[in-house]
Amino acid sequence: MEVWEAIRGRRSVRSFQDRPVERGLLERLVEAAIWAPSGGNAQTWHFVVVTDPEQLQRVKTVSPGMLGDPPAAIAVCQDMNEARRKGGELGAKFLAPVDAAMATQNILLAAHDLGLGTCVIASFHKGAVARILGLPEGVEPVLLVSVGWPARVPPPPPRKKDVISWERYGNEPST
Ligand SMILES: Cc1cc2nc3c(=O)[nH]c(=O)nc-3n(C[C@H](O)[C@H](O)[C@H](O)COP(=O)(O)O)c2cc1C
Repeated sequence: MEVWEAIRGRRSVRSFQDRPVERGLLERLVEAAIWAPSGGNAQTWHFVVVTDPEQLQRVKTVSPGMLGDPPAAIAVCQDMNEARRKGGELGAKFLAPVDAAMATQNILLAAHDLGLGTCVIASFHKGAVARILGLPEGVEPVLLVSVGWPARVPPPPPRKKDVISWERYGNEPST
């Protein structure tokens, strides 16, 4: 799939088939994640893949933003101690969440390329998810990604178009 096609065609999928996602495909999504850029190449991320139905249900219970019944989810986590050690306050407060978002976008695009549907989830209880996943002290879930074979792909929500300026904010291009 062309990059442009992946960027334009990916949608947030919230309705999944009752069909598991093979382990190899989930590993490929994490492989895509680790090739994302990270500030100072810090790579302070960790990815917890959840496929056990009971464990998924526990996560879902504390994640109001997780809609539908995905057969898999990936918790994109950051080791905040390591992020602080490598990048100070900037590393912990800014680089860590940005890096997690970069890795997440790679997961979304790689999944779309494989025919899988995904949805980013920020609406979840961080502490509860950390406990359920057994995250060590200092490792925090930044985003969840639900993963599965799409049952329904929604139409693209409209995009704002007036978001570009040239040279200075509000300027039109000169030619
Ligand atoms: C940081 C972030 C948090 C999001 N959190 C949720 C969420 O908790 N639940 C959900 O259903 N969708 C969530 N979304 C998906 C957005 O609603 C979705 O990306 C947006 O409506 C645009 O649709 P599209 O992804 O199909 O282009 C989130 C997206 C981002 C980037």
